Amino acid sequence: TSSHGSGPFIAAIDQGTTSSRCIVFDRDGRIVAVDQKEHEQIFPKPGWVEHDAAEIWTNVQEVVAGAIAKAAQDIPGFTPADVKAIGITNQRETTLLWDRHTGEPVHNALVWQDTRTDALCRELGRNVGQDRFRRETGLPLASYFAGPKIRWLLDNVPGLRERAEAGDILFGTMDSWVIWNLTGGVNGGVHVTDVTNASRTLLMNLHTLEWDHKILASMEVPAAVLPQIRSSSEVYGTTNVGGLDGVPVASALGDQQAALFGQTCFAEGEAKSTYGTGTFMLMNTGGTPVNSYNGLITTVGYRIGEEAPVYALEGSIAVTGALVQWMRDQMGLISTAAEIETLASSVADNGGAYFVPAFSGLFAPYWRDDARGVIAGLTRYVTKAHIARAVLEATAWQTREIADAMTKDSDVELTALKVDGGMTSNNLLMQTLADALDAPVVRPMVAETTCLGAAYAAGLAVGFWPDTDALRANWKRAAEWTPRMDAADRDREYKNWLKAVERTMGWIE
Ligand code: G3P
Repeated sequence: TSSHGSGPFIAAIDQGTTSSRCIVFDRDGRIVAVDQKEHEQIFPKPGWVEHDAAEIWTNVQEVVAGAIAKAAQDIPGFTPADVKAIGITNQRETTLLWDRHTGEPVHNALVWQDTRTDALCRELGRNVGQDRFRRETGLPLASYFAGPKIRWLLDNVPGLRERAEAGDILFGTMDSWVIWNLTGGVNGGVHVTDVTNASRTLLMNLHTLEWDHKILASMEVPAAVLPQIRSSSEVYGTTNVGGLDGVPVASALGDQQAALFGQTCFAEGEAKSTYGTGTFMLMNTGGTPVNSYNGLITTVGYRIGEEAPVYALEGSIAVTGALVQWMRDQMGLISTAAEIETLASSVADNGGAYFVPAFSGLFAPYWRDDARGVIAGLTRYVTKAHIARAVLEATAWQTREIADAMTKDSDVELTALKVDGGMTSNNLLMQTLADALDAPVVRPMVAETTCLGAAYAAGLAVGFWPDTDALRANWKRAAEWTPRMDAADRDREYKNWLKAVERTMGWIE
């Protein structure tokens, strides 16, 4: 990292599901400095997942300070003034309400994986069905999205609804929380969100990009709590925190949309798949929100300033990397995430076992809040190494299911898949993925595309980069895996996987 002698630079904050990080990039999109910190995962009951938003804000400040300090150490003459803008990207849907006067969260944040609103979602869809708001929002009624989580908090935190109606409470996904705090918090912090994050609330109209007042009424969410919806690439305010003062906060995108941007999928039909806690495949569909008939969702891809919005089709998988973490933290079968590859490589196949991690129900293409995880096909022959293999295959087959849906909805044949995210360092997984898809899998040089995308959007807003063509020039292929699996084997394994998926459904009454 010592060759990036001359600034200026762009910083990005990624407030993710398991950690927060800050990365500083140079003009070529290369990483200059990184800092990262994990936060606690709180599981109060089966199916419930929470985060402490105060802890997250403390961590965000620490990683910003940490990344700036590392840049100062490695780059001769670096000063914080060399950071020309800061971009924000975040775990999407995770829902927080806080007091605008004290800055205190009124409850832990309800994480996107949390299923406590499943009964509420069924109730909202009664007589009409899960697609009650799909035409307006592009989304099915599912516990995944933010709107029902706001409703749950208003209904369950004593006195909260009155305070919210009086205008004392602010709602935000993590982008809003971080931006509000970064720009001063109780001392004039700006209360905004961007179109991509707003498109995950079940409360924004995809066509007008405004809050939908009819849905707000049905969901019983007072408009007074809502942030202003802005584009993904514009200056919302300037930082007003220790260590980094007066830097324009110039982008916000949900992490998956940021990865689409970081992979420079700017043309219609271009797609990427990001392997983090969950996995999310997004395909750019240009200026039109394309309806899905195969279980995908329609979402905003990004909007640069005053330009027309770009839409995307998305296949969302709740649990991929989270399954490896579960093997490590809850089962103790491995001691580091990387060990899953070593363990899985010690056997030639899955020994007949299939693991469907429906821990948060099933997302795309099923949208079943009533599903729970299963391991199918067990015999005494099966060892923990076979289970490790089944864990990796679960990620591959779940991707195959959404890739199939994507092909049906878009008529675009998958010729290669651009991947990124932490799990892509697992070679066995990438090979398994190419085999399951029967298509090549390609990883770019900078696998941190989420932060990169937020940095790109922030840099565009302040003129650091002239246009998206300049960003495309930064994309460089680092690795590629080609399919090696025999077609008959692939078909048999996929069939077995689908049989195991059947077994997860209807578990919750
Ligand atoms: O929709 C949830 C997604 O934004 C979370 O992404 O990378 O934190 O698992 P990640």
